[in-house]
Amino acid sequence: MIITIDGPAGAGKSTAARLLAERLGFEFLDTGAMYRAVAWACVDRHVDPHDSAAVSETVASISIQFEDERILCNGQDVTTEIRSAEASHAASIVAAVPAVRLEMVRLQRESAAGHNYVTEGRDQGSEVFPDSECKFFLTADPGERARRRLQELQSRGQSGAIEDVLNQIVDRDERDRSREIGPLVMAEDAVEVDTSGQTIEQVVDFLERTSRERLGSSNLTTG
Ligand code: DC
Repeated sequence: MIITIDGPAGAGKSTAARLLAERLGFEFLDTGAMYRAVAWACVDRHVDPHDSAAVSETVASISIQFEDERILCNGQDVTTEIRSAEASHAASIVAAVPAVRLEMVRLQRESAAGHNYVTEGRDQGSEVFPDSECKFFLTADPGERARRRLQELQSRGQSGAIEDVLNQIVDRDERDRSREIGPLVMAEDAVEVDTSGQTIEQVVDFLERTSRERLGSSNLTTG
């Protein structure tokens, strides 16, 4: 069984998806981390993220694996590196390269086959797992998303000005929404959840309740 959670940057998807997976006894797939790993490999090899041919060659030459909560690129733990400002920026550019999307979608479907997963990203309900019976689309107003992103950066010892974070979020949203393949879009059968002003507990309670209703409690572990 697959539960998909999509939405723009800073809407609270990762935290919500991780907690929902824990409550249901599912595995959790952070697909943004996969695009970030490709971006990190490009930065590491001095490949221009706008150079589609070079990015396509890079994605064909790397392996991406998850080990517990860590992400490995060619066996190297890049969990921290993929969260840098440089990798974040490059991720939203390489994510528009068709060869990158094809490979990430293939890996996501392969990982999820035969497992119970909560997957989180931009295209999970619309493109990657269109048959999922339980899809969510998380949103929040841009100001709140920028505040959350800044808190996340600060918790990792990084700093930034709220205006810059907001501008980056608006830019990334625009790139994510306007790309031709796998754009950020709400699946027609997704449940939209506006997380503005809600605590993470409130959001996860709602997601858990709705998931249990949709998937049938008998198939799920009790919380
Ligand atoms: O969720 P995130 O910020 O870690 O995602 C990093 C980038 O990857 C973001 O710019 C959008 C892109 N992405 C994507 O295109 N498709 C996904 N399924 C997940 C993320």
